[in-house]
Amino acid sequence: MSTRNKTGGTGKPVIIETADASHTLSVPSLGETYHSRHGAIQESLHVFIKNGFRVTEQSPLRILEVGFGTGLNALLTLTEADREQRSIHYTTVERYPLDTALISRLNYCQLLEEADESLFLRMHALRWNEEHRLTENFTLLKLHEDLTTCHLPGKYDLVYFDAFSAEVQPEMWSPEVFAGISEAMVSGGVLVTYAAKGSVRRALQQTGFRIERLPGPPGKREMIRAVKK
Ligand SMILES: C[S@@+](CC[C@H](N)C(=O)[O-])C[C@H]1O[C@@H](n2cnc3c(N)ncnc32)[C@H](O)[C@@H]1O
Repeated sequence: MSTRNKTGGTGKPVIIETADASHTLSVPSLGETYHSRHGAIQESLHVFIKNGFRVTEQSPLRILEVGFGTGLNALLTLTEADREQRSIHYTTVERYPLDTALISRLNYCQLLEEADESLFLRMHALRWNEEHRLTENFTLLKLHEDLTTCHLPGKYDLVYFDAFSAEVQPEMWSPEVFAGISEAMVSGGVLVTYAAKGSVRRALQQTGFRIERLPGPPGKREMIRAVKK
């Protein structure tokens, strides 16, 4: 059984603690979690920061995230950007924004030494569908849209593909969706995802990506990094 399965964006998420003590959200009625139960922060650091952000060199770097959710990936990226003094334009697509009351109870900033809680909360409070400069190095555009139908405004160097699992949202992992993302990426652009399923690999290959299978985060054998040819 997958460690992060079942949802649809409906039902009330509740906070649960994962193995590295960081929170994630669970939608009990659907059985899906927002991150791995083996460690939410560990997973995001491994999949998106180590194997995505850190293999790129551009500055400014244009990132597209699929699924803003708790904002953990954006927070980790902002922290890295400030440390490395790299300029980041971060666009994220989210169909089901979370309540701010729930967000304010997440423990990421208590666990991450360099993270700034007021920036984390501001990130969530910013108006949707407008670009905002959050720090000197980081601009954020949160699109309140459905990824499967929206137009992606821009060209991206790096994609964090962090949708719910293909078992529960197969439409997010279709060749058509990957084709739309690919069109919005630069040649040589990188897409990273926690998934490693054969059907996901094939959908990406079909859309013109070169696939690398990398060791996964704790609790998961593999993950995918895909490079646009
Ligand atoms: C696995 S969660 C990860 C979220 C986030 N990256 C995080 O770290 O919390 C997947 C996210 O995709 C969002 N989502 C579901 N269907 C979507 C759709 N059709 N378009 C855009 N986002 C969607 C969910 O609401 C959820 O926030």
